[in-house]
Amino acid sequence: MRTRRSAVAVIAGAASLALALTACGQNSEGGSKAKSGDAKGATIGIAMPTKSSERWIADGKNVVENLESKGYKTKLVYGEDDPDTQVAQIENLITQGVKGLIVAAIDNKSLNNVLQEAADADIPVIAYDRLILGSKNVDYYASFDNEKVGVLQGTYIAHELGLDSGKKGPFNLELFAGSNDDNNTKYFFGGAMKVLQPYIDKKQLVVKSGQTGLNQVTTLRWDGTTAQKRMEDILTSSYKTGRVDAVLSPYDGISIGILSALKSDGYGSGSKPLPVVTGQDAELASVKSIIAGEQTQTVYKDTRELARVAAAMVDDSLKGKKPQVNDEKTYDNGSKVVPAYLLQPVSVDKANYRKVLVDGGYYTEAELK
Ligand code: GAL
Repeated sequence: MRTRRSAVAVIAGAASLALALTACGQNSEGGSKAKSGDAKGATIGIAMPTKSSERWIADGKNVVENLESKGYKTKLVYGEDDPDTQVAQIENLITQGVKGLIVAAIDNKSLNNVLQEAADADIPVIAYDRLILGSKNVDYYASFDNEKVGVLQGTYIAHELGLDSGKKGPFNLELFAGSNDDNNTKYFFGGAMKVLQPYIDKKQLVVKSGQTGLNQVTTLRWDGTTAQKRMEDILTSSYKTGRVDAVLSPYDGISIGILSALKSDGYGSGSKPLPVVTGQDAELASVKSIIAGEQTQTVYKDTRELARVAAAMVDDSLKGKKPQVNDEKTYDNGSKVVPAYLLQPVSVDKANYRKVLVDGGYYTEAELK
């Protein structure tokens, strides 16, 4: 039996019907129950967005390891940041007979048709880190508390500039957000602005470019070069005088681009120190940059844990168990509220990277050299 169907029925308030159907081995659409153990040896399709960022390489590897340890076979594909490629890859996985899908979407709205194909084949779908929008055929969502990621970035900036005392400033801040086709973008930016907007209102923070709306600050496909170019343009147009004191960056790849633009403009030398620059993902290049005193902070999200949660969601779904979730209200994808398991992000900087990342086994000391 497909847990998914019964879970949907439970959410619709037909719990007793679902239970009865479970007991007699039928799903709510009359399909036959998978015998216990049928899930074993099944192949799970994993669609990741890109290999251009090391975090997704680690995610793919960790999901594969988790599923294999549970006795599954896996097919892992990367869409190289092209939505059409990802749709074609998922179609292919369905044709190849996968029994479950784990998908980190490239464009959150492009997957409706292909997920209908998955539903027609009775394949449970787990949205991995990025929520898929506009489709009822998303069964579960494994991610982090995405608003908290932004809150951690905003709080870090406020604290580093000493804004909390109420007296310091004005400081110049520039804002960057992620890709506008990623559902997480608005949560990251919203969380950060919850902290930063009051200081902008009080003029303790000034955004000299005037670019403060989410639609003015997004970075298509989280591309570092795009962010570098935007930072260069801002420096040219808005900083003929004055200097940048802080940059809100939502992701390490973007932070590296921003830092390149700043360094080319003379930041990072004696009279022109680098501004506070946030980030996310604790990617190796950024952790090294933090240790070298360039990027200031990142938000660490343990992808090993995320992979474990997503693999368990597929496993439970295929075995007729309801996966563990801890949030059933936040992530409305426009078609349904997708039950989610959200992990906790952690702010990392030069002061705690060793404790969090090295002692936590995410990186070895040697890797950070
Ligand atoms: C987001 C994800 C971030 C970051 C970004 C760019 O969806 O939540 O952690 O990885 O994509 O890859």
